[in-house]
Amino acid sequence: MLEDFFLETVALDDENDQVIILDQTLLPLREEYVRLTTAEQIWVAINNLQVRGAPAIGIAAAMGIYVCVKREAKKNCADLNNFFYETKNYLASSRPTAVNLFWALDEMEKAFNSGNEKIEALREAAVKIKNDDIAVCKAIGTHGAALLKNNMGILTHCNAGSLATARYGTALAPIYAAAEQGVKGIRVYADETRPLLQGARLTAYELHRAGLDVTLICDNMASAVMQQGWVQAVFVGCDRVAANGDTANKIGTSGVAILAAAYGIPFYVCAPRSTIDFSCSSGSDITIEERSPSEVTHKWYAHPMAPEGVKVYNPAFDVTPQKYITAFITERGVIFPPFEKKIHQLK
Ligand code: MRU
Repeated sequence: MLEDFFLETVALDDENDQVIILDQTLLPLREEYVRLTTAEQIWVAINNLQVRGAPAIGIAAAMGIYVCVKREAKKNCADLNNFFYETKNYLASSRPTAVNLFWALDEMEKAFNSGNEKIEALREAAVKIKNDDIAVCKAIGTHGAALLKNNMGILTHCNAGSLATARYGTALAPIYAAAEQGVKGIRVYADETRPLLQGARLTAYELHRAGLDVTLICDNMASAVMQQGWVQAVFVGCDRVAANGDTANKIGTSGVAILAAAYGIPFYVCAPRSTIDFSCSSGSDITIEERSPSEVTHKWYAHPMAPEGVKVYNPAFDVTPQKYITAFITERGVIFPPFEKKIHQLK
């Protein structure tokens, strides 16, 4: 069973009021779990990408706010309401682009204000967010696997696999599902995904660990691989989908989409409904995270690889215009253009 190969990314230790995460910054060298107790620790873990990938961030924040509020309630906090909203706003500031973070915290707010016993309502909501993600990813896998046939080459960017979710992943879920269904000879090309190497460290790691055929390429090799006819489809995940279908995902995704269009290769975005942001009418409404220049100039290198003080632009995401997207694969099925009306129906 491929399921046996999935690592648990985020878990709740209810007895000790802690969130346990797989520290993804240590992969592929070490599989180590970290226990998070305070809101600050949860904020740092999300901001530093120890837990990352849009759905996993949402789950960590949901479990995080639950354990923080529960611990505060035990101290007979005079104003639990104020504490909830302070913690919610603080965790929401950990990363700006993946809408699942805000979505999950809003779900927790609904639970907090549901009129039921607050701590139990928060626990149930956090556990549900995780369990629903497993079901959603499984459904995306089933719908996406129908697009896969024997001996296809698939290119993917960043990591939208099991490590980015509670299980299965989004973009990798169809590949796992197809393999389980007996589809043979699927080859995956994983873009290394500069500057943080989620493709090399995480996608190549989880596919290789599961015994699937994966070839790691540098981002600038995607065109060469496509030109040689080795890629029959691109599958990527997403961090925020606007109402018109414009899609924010890891920096470099829009370039892959444009290449795919140039070579006539279908470009699929695997998108849970929790990643659709109906308040953004188009991609220009999506906030793009900018990260430290040192991720480009220093990280991973024994010595700095750029002159000291040079200007650096380091956006973590880009927006793929919807015209480059062949279809969205959601938990409800596959959506082909025109997107706007069909996305609206997912509300
Ligand atoms: O910066 P990251 O590693 O959190 O970026 C992750 C991505 O861009 C993923 O493709 C996206 O979150 C979808 S994960 C199912």
